[in-house]
Amino acid sequence: MRETLENMRDEAIDSVAKIDDLKQLDDLRRKYLGKKGELTKVLRGMGRLPAQERPIIGSLANEVRTLIQTQLDNQRERLEERALEDRLSREAIDVTMPGARIDRGNLHPLTSVQNEIVDIFIGMGFIAVEGPDVELDYYNFEALNIPKDHPARDIQDTFYINDEMVLRTHTSPVQVRVMEAEEPPIKIVVPGRVYRSDDVDATHSPIFHQIEGLVIDKNVTMADLKGALDVFAKELFGKDTKTRFRPHYFPFTEPSVEVDATCVTCGGDGCRICSNTGWIEILGAGMVHPNVLRYGNIDPSIYSGYAFGLGLDRIVNLKYGIDDIRLLYENDVRFLKQF
Ligand code: DAH
Repeated sequence: MRETLENMRDEAIDSVAKIDDLKQLDDLRRKYLGKKGELTKVLRGMGRLPAQERPIIGSLANEVRTLIQTQLDNQRERLEERALEDRLSREAIDVTMPGARIDRGNLHPLTSVQNEIVDIFIGMGFIAVEGPDVELDYYNFEALNIPKDHPARDIQDTFYINDEMVLRTHTSPVQVRVMEAEEPPIKIVVPGRVYRSDDVDATHSPIFHQIEGLVIDKNVTMADLKGALDVFAKELFGKDTKTRFRPHYFPFTEPSVEVDATCVTCGGDGCRICSNTGWIEILGAGMVHPNVLRYGNIDPSIYSGYAFGLGLDRIVNLKYGIDDIRLLYENDVRFLKQF
């Protein structure tokens, strides 16, 4: 019996060591230590032993059981460890491998130049406000001193929603909205979309963008207008930029000017972009007409102000040498990615 036990022990240790799979290990445990296992079988035969041998064989059987159990446990631990290592190495990530490249977006040039321009004016103490795209005829025309028969109201140019409402044709109506709502001093810039019933070509789009400016306070003069817009042009196009102010006409300003800057492309020498004049028109401006101040409930005998309006699309095109406004609206990412 001792021999049977010892053989069983050696054989069990041997086969446990050879196992490399948890399920087979479990089968082995059942084979040796299970209820119907080999050790149980041996123990059942103990009754036939002489009384004095029973404790000796009994304790040998216990030893064998413990030994096999320990071997099984150790082997299980080894196998589990190896399985974990396998899994970890299978799932390992090599952080030094080049990643899948994710395309990075960028701001549309209209947005980034608009931000740049608004920031320049914020730097001069302006605040940015917005107004509605669908605007009352009253604010778009009437309150800007554009009477009913003025050619700027031409049904050809303006998208009418109904008799009283239009898609704003410029950002100027926000001037009067702000005058009505705020007490001077007022110092605002108004970026926004504007709409005109134009046929699309290289320089026209029915939707385009303007940035309006309005400054109202006591003793505001044309010199303030010239100073602010000259600083603006130098900030936007470079410190060597010069400006010139040409007399012009707008219904909502008096006097009115158009402002030119030295050509961004040739620096004033004359080139294709500036039609060899050395100058490019960048905005319209003027001293706010007393009628407009009155429409905004501001007393023209106490306050004066200047206003300006610039076309963003044209400035974007000048800045980047883009020769067709349609490119700004076609949203071809190959084009937009270049900015
Ligand atoms: N509203 C004008 C336009 O759309 C631009 C403009 C000119 C705005 C002179 C102004 C200004 O505020 O003073 O053409």
